[in-house]
Amino acid sequence: MTGLLICGGTVVSPTGAHLADVLVDGETIAAVLAPGAGPADIETLDAAGKYVIPGAVDAHTHMELPFGGTFASDTFETGTRAAAFGGTTTIIDFAVQRTGEVVQDGLAAWHAKAAGNCHVDYAFHMILGGVDEDSLKAMDQLVADEGITSFKLFMAYPGVFYSDDGQILRAMQKARDNGSVIMMHAENGIAIDVLIGQALARGETDPIHHGLTRPEALEAEATSRAIYLAEVARDCPLYIGHLSASRALAAVAQARDAGRNVFAETCPQYLYLTLEDQLGAPGFEGAKWVCSTPLRSGHENHRADLWRGLRSNDLAVVSTDHCPFCFKEQKELGLGDFSKIPNGIGGVEHRLDLVYQGVADGKLSLQRWVETISTTPARMFGLYPRKGVIAPGSDADIVLYDPTGRTTIGVETHHMNMDYSAYEGYEIAGRVDTVISRGTVLLSGGAYHGRKGHGRYLPRGLSTYLV
Ligand code: URP
Ligand code: ZN
Ligand code: ZN
Repeated sequence: MTGLLICGGTVVSPTGAHLADVLVDGETIAAVLAPGAGPADIETLDAAGKYVIPGAVDAHTHMELPFGGTFASDTFETGTRAAAFGGTTTIIDFAVQRTGEVVQDGLAAWHAKAAGNCHVDYAFHMILGGVDEDSLKAMDQLVADEGITSFKLFMAYPGVFYSDDGQILRAMQKARDNGSVIMMHAENGIAIDVLIGQALARGETDPIHHGLTRPEALEAEATSRAIYLAEVARDCPLYIGHLSASRALAAVAQARDAGRNVFAETCPQYLYLTLEDQLGAPGFEGAKWVCSTPLRSGHENHRADLWRGLRSNDLAVVSTDHCPFCFKEQKELGLGDFSKIPNGIGGVEHRLDLVYQGVADGKLSLQRWVETISTTPARMFGLYPRKGVIAPGSDADIVLYDPTGRTTIGVETHHMNMDYSAYEGYEIAGRVDTVISRGTVLLSGGAYHGRKGHGRYLPRGLSTYLV
């Protein structure tokens, strides 16, 4: 018989973990079987002692994003290859409509960057750089015809991606009508720009001032405002991106307790890194960790609160917000002026491992690990049950994870196109062992077998996560 039988592993899903064999036929999963119940005359893959999990879905990446006077340093080719090494078999990247541009032209540009270049499957959200009659109409067309069912708006970055409250409300009303999800960069960018101007006038130019001029209060305020605006838009589905701060999380939790369609993600950088230790590193070193929302103070409770939010599902998803820039010549654009440092951290390769470390540390269950990195992002963004689950009929995107292995993170071993690692020297208690995408083995025994062009565009349906 043709196909592949993955034998002897522990299949993990949001509802449990049990010994089972997984039968793959072509690009899809044919059956999940009791151990030993599969056909005898078939190629097998020994998964004994390993967790067998659905390929991870990173719902927030920015390959080749033009930003801060330069471009994110991973192309779709290098970034999706790095994703595959880390067990991520689907990314959802952000196509960009720049202010004044036709939305569909921005989308076409992203298709041109990605097509034929990806090692893993990919989908797009759409960043709306301008909300007007044309872009509101375009939202309907993208949902109906293009498989794009989520739109990111920015309360930050005036003059770049910023939308005012009226524009946000109109886009939310449109999303409420066509069933799509509004994703929000929730920081009060107008107030932040005042603080940046004042800091620079005082001669405060080091990277740590990036964080100090983007205080928690301005993330919490914008998060609350977005939640209220979504309420006015008749409970438009709202997804807060890259949430980093305790009080922003409290606003999300309050809305969720009220039964609202309000969701949030956090990212590994906020679970591990701090304003003092990373952004405050000596000299210009802190530029490596300039991202927005910024890293938060390690003297406050943010990281513990975020892990708690992941346990309680007030944080539904861990994405990376992968937006890498090299230190040389890219981060260095901000030498002498922190506000010119391109915002972003690369991490698409390390999300499974960094969240698994939370499992090893007793901060998260095995089931929540799988749910936050794979199942919920697939459900949230209309890819389920094709992605995010090991079940008959689903794509055979499967990762074997070795809980007895170890992963050392660093620039010498990573595959992202970055000249530094945000997690240099981190030791993880676990290791991605084998990665399968639609039945094709991309990684096994440390050897990479993937190729650019294997990854396909995934038109998405509407979210199946709404209350
Ligand atoms: O610093 C970040 N997050 N850069 C990427 C753009 C965004 O706001 O997600
Ligand atoms: Zn953002
Ligand atoms: Zn982002």
